[in-house]
Amino acid sequence: MPIIAPSLLSANFLKLGEESQMLNESEADWFHLDVMDGVFVPNISFGLPVISAIRKATTKICDVHLMIEHPERYAEDFKKAGADVLTVHLEACRHLHRNVQQIRALGMKAGVAINPHSTVELLFDVLHEIDMVCVMSVNPGFGGQKFIPGTLEKIRSLRRRIDEHKLDVWIEVDGGVTLENAPSIIMAGADVLVAGNTVFASSDPKGAISQLKSY
Ligand code: DX5
Ligand code: ZN
Repeated sequence: MPIIAPSLLSANFLKLGEESQMLNESEADWFHLDVMDGVFVPNISFGLPVISAIRKATTKICDVHLMIEHPERYAEDFKKAGADVLTVHLEACRHLHRNVQQIRALGMKAGVAINPHSTVELLFDVLHEIDMVCVMSVNPGFGGQKFIPGTLEKIRSLRRRIDEHKLDVWIEVDGGVTLENAPSIIMAGADVLVAGNTVFASSDPKGAISQLKSY
C-alpha cells in the first residue's frame, strides 16, 4: 500500500484548520508541505509560521519539501517548527552530502528532491545517507501541472538501485499524480504519492485519498 501525502499547497488557506482536520480523519498518512522562496522556484508559498501552526493541528508525519536556496540556513528552524521529514533539492545544494547529514543530525528524516532534468544517477553516491528521494514529476513551483511521462523510467531505475543495494530509502513522487496515473506510478516502484489537486480540487477529498491508498 502506498503512503499518501496530500499537498496543502492546493488547500484553502482561509480554512487550514478544517483542511487539516479533514486530512486527520482521512486515510492520508503524511501532510506534504511545500515551501517556496521565489528564487529557487518562480513562486512563493508559505513558511515557518504556517508549518508550526499545522504541526499543532495534526499528529501525522509532516513532510516538508523545501524549494529554496541555502536550505542549510533554515534546517534547524524547520526542525523546531515540527518537520519530521525535511527534503532539499539536489539542484539547490552545492554540498548535498553535508546538507543531508545536517538534517539527520537534527533528528529528521532526510529527503533529496530531483528536478525533471536531473538523472537519478546523480544521487547514487548519497543514497545510503538518506531516507527518501523525491522524484519531481513536474517542474517545481506550482500545483495542478501535468505529469511528465519520462518520470516512470526514472522511478524504475531508482527502484532497481535501491533494491540491488538493499537500501532503506523511500521513493516519493511529486507532481501531477492523479487517480488515473497512480497505479502505473506505484507499479514503477514509488512508495509515497504526493497529491495536491487530485485531493483538494475533488468534490470528495477523503474519497480521493481512499482511492489512492487502495492502489
Ligand atoms: C510542486 C509541489 C507539489 C505540488 C503538487 O512544486 O512540490 O507538491 O503541490 O501538486 P499537484 O499534485 O497538484 O501536482
Ligand atoms: Zn512538493
